[in-house]
This record gives sequence, C-alpha cells and structure tokens, in this order.
Amino acid sequence: MKNISVAIDGPAGAGKSTVAKAVAKNMDLLYIDTGAMYRAVTYLVLKEGLDLTEEQKIINIAKNTTFNFSKDGSEIFINGENCSKEIRTPEVSEKVSLVSKIGALRTILVNAQQKLAKNHDVIMDGRDIGTHVLPQAELKIFLTASVNERATRRFEELSKDKPSANISFDAVKNNIIERDNIDSNRDQAPLIKAEDAIEIDTTSLTTVEVVEKIIKLIAKIHR
Ligand code: DC
Repeated sequence: MKNISVAIDGPAGAGKSTVAKAVAKNMDLLYIDTGAMYRAVTYLVLKEGLDLTEEQKIINIAKNTTFNFSKDGSEIFINGENCSKEIRTPEVSEKVSLVSKIGALRTILVNAQQKLAKNHDVIMDGRDIGTHVLPQAELKIFLTASVNERATRRFEELSKDKPSANISFDAVKNNIIERDNIDSNRDQAPLIKAEDAIEIDTTSLTTVEVVEKIIKLIAKIHR
C-alpha cells in the first residue's frame, strides 16, 4: 500500500507539533519536526558566534550537520548529540526566522527532510511542507489560531519548562508576530496555505478535538 503522508503547516504557536506528535503516536506515523532543524542550524550559528550576514558559513554548517530524531520525533540529535532543549531558548527563537530566510540553506534542509520521509508513513510539520517539501502529500492541514491564543500557549509552555526564567508574555507575543511576518514574507517558500490544504482554526478547540479531526481525515483517505 502507498505510504501515508500528512503535511501540517501554520504560523508559530498554532499547536502544530503537539497535534502532529499525538496523531503520529495514535496512527503509528513517523513525526518530523522541520522547525527543529532550522532551530538546530540557528543554535550552531549562535554557538559558533557567526554573524547572520556570513551566509556561506551558515550554509556550510547545514551541509556538514546530520539530523536525527527520536522515534516519537520529540528529541533532535545534532551530529549525534541530543540538543532538544538548547534549540528552544529565546535566543534561538529570536534569530531562527532570519536564518530560515537563506535560500541555499532551505534547499539543503528540504532535501534532508525529503530523505527522512522517504519510504515511511509520515506526518511532518513546518511552514512549507504542503507547498514545497511534500507537495504530493495526500492530506494537507493549515493550522491557525488567534495571535493572543498562540502567544498564551507558548508563554504557558515556556513558563512550565523553565519556571525560573524571566519570560514576559509581551516578549513571547512580539516574537510570534515578528516571526510570522518574516516567515510569511521571505522570498523562498514563504509560509502560505497550500491551495489544497484544509484550514483548521484551533483558537477554541482542545488538542484532543484537533487530533480527532485529523485522524478522521486520514482515515477517510486511507479507508
Ligand atoms: O516550528 P517552529 O516555530 O519551531 O519553527 C521555527 C522557525 O523555523 C520558524 O519561525 C520558521 C522556520 N521554519 C521554516 O522556515 N520552515 C519550516 N518548514 C519550519 C520552520
């Protein structure tokens, strides 16, 4: 039987990874978090103290890095090292959209994502999955939520993960607005709803409700 492939795109904080992870677990799909790969490159760029104008060096980092995920997709290994926490700091969040604008870097990561997905039943989330990475995906979801709801979710997540950190709601909300703006307006593969994607506004839905909706849509296709 043909492999299942599901693409989930949408703006920051819409709940893509939470939902994708739960659907993957329920339906035994491989989950690939492409945002984690852009974050991983950004983490390495900051670690090496590179300036964001040093594009060729940034591209070389991506070329020379291997990315692996744990089975459930929740942990990322950069050249074999588990860096799942390091890629989610405010410093990485602040710079990741600028790094993601580099066209040649995107080409390298898109190739790596397509390789990871090959010959698997897969659910992949990001910004350009339905439009560029898996244009042949038989189910494309565009997940949205109001900016206040998305900021609230991110803020609660960050406060839970690191209660001691001094994170303000406004800073989280501003970062989301800024990233959405850069992600939606870049030249190569901007965040955009694929023509054949189904939009789900999650503002007043629970995670369980969204997960159930997507599972039903997959079941309809793969009856
Ligand atoms: O999903 P996330 O918020 O962790 O993604 C972090 C950033 O990575 C996002 O603001 C833009 C970039 N990204 C991208 O350009 N293309 C993707 N497919 C996934 C993420």
